[in-house]
Amino acid sequence: MHVARTIIETRVAIGATHWAGDTVGLVPTMGALHEGHLSLVRRAREECDFVVLTVFVNPTQFAPGEDYAQYPRAEERDLALAEAEGVDLVFAPSTEEMYPEGALTTVHVDELTEVMCGPSRPGHFDGVATVVAKLFSITMPNRAYFGEKDFQQLQVIRRMARDLDLPVEIVGCPTVREPDGLAISSRNAYLSAEDRRAAPALYRALLAGAGVASRGGRAEEVEETVRAALASEPRFQLQYVEARRPDTLQRDDLPGPPLVIAAAAYLGTTRLIDNVVVEKDSPR
Ligand code: PAF
Repeated sequence: MHVARTIIETRVAIGATHWAGDTVGLVPTMGALHEGHLSLVRRAREECDFVVLTVFVNPTQFAPGEDYAQYPRAEERDLALAEAEGVDLVFAPSTEEMYPEGALTTVHVDELTEVMCGPSRPGHFDGVATVVAKLFSITMPNRAYFGEKDFQQLQVIRRMARDLDLPVEIVGCPTVREPDGLAISSRNAYLSAEDRRAAPALYRALLAGAGVASRGGRAEEVEETVRAALASEPRFQLQYVEARRPDTLQRDDLPGPPLVIAAAAYLGTTRLIDNVVVEKDSPR
């Protein structure tokens, strides 16, 4: 497995792969790899000839006061896991390599970034879109793999790739959950034992909302159901719950699916997000 620290080294290695006619699959991460990331790597390994994993804790997607400094970093372990999964190249650049002084360009996707997590994380999706656009330019993937756990991020990236005619297929992969339903996330490591016990209530509340949606409920009824279900777990402080059309993340007055029901909530100082997508033909 090749570990590259520079853009030029990465471009040379991947350029040679393209010349050989091989397909390149990209899994962008901020490291601290868990089963969710590994499921993306496995899917990329199945579908592509050459798998690239990027490990970069991107400062521009953290607002001041967020957990950039505390974000878990475990490079040695990440490299061992990547190697065991058959990753061909890891791109793990420094911040200076990714953001040399004087950069003036930001990628901004309108509308999709103004709802759900947008208002509470100003600038977050600009940081994500910009770094992902840079990673696409550096690694030139045929396919790029993202988890549906970050559903809004996935839709923002899909839209950016479409609007900028980026020659990459964006592949959304199912959320990986613990046996009790909690969506796997690097931030779960911050939870106290009591908060960890309470945490699966978020997914259970979203499933209650999904039941209402699949029976033809309107977005407001779905959201109210989630709020009421989560109220039974007093450790949670709900930041938002929103039921929206999955492709546009907009609202309309039509009842029932398709809907993405997404929520963000705090357990202590840890912010958890999760979502459930209810398709049009889902069972009632
Ligand atoms: O989902 C993440 O880990 C990050 O937002 C991403 C896509 C790697 C960009 O930094």
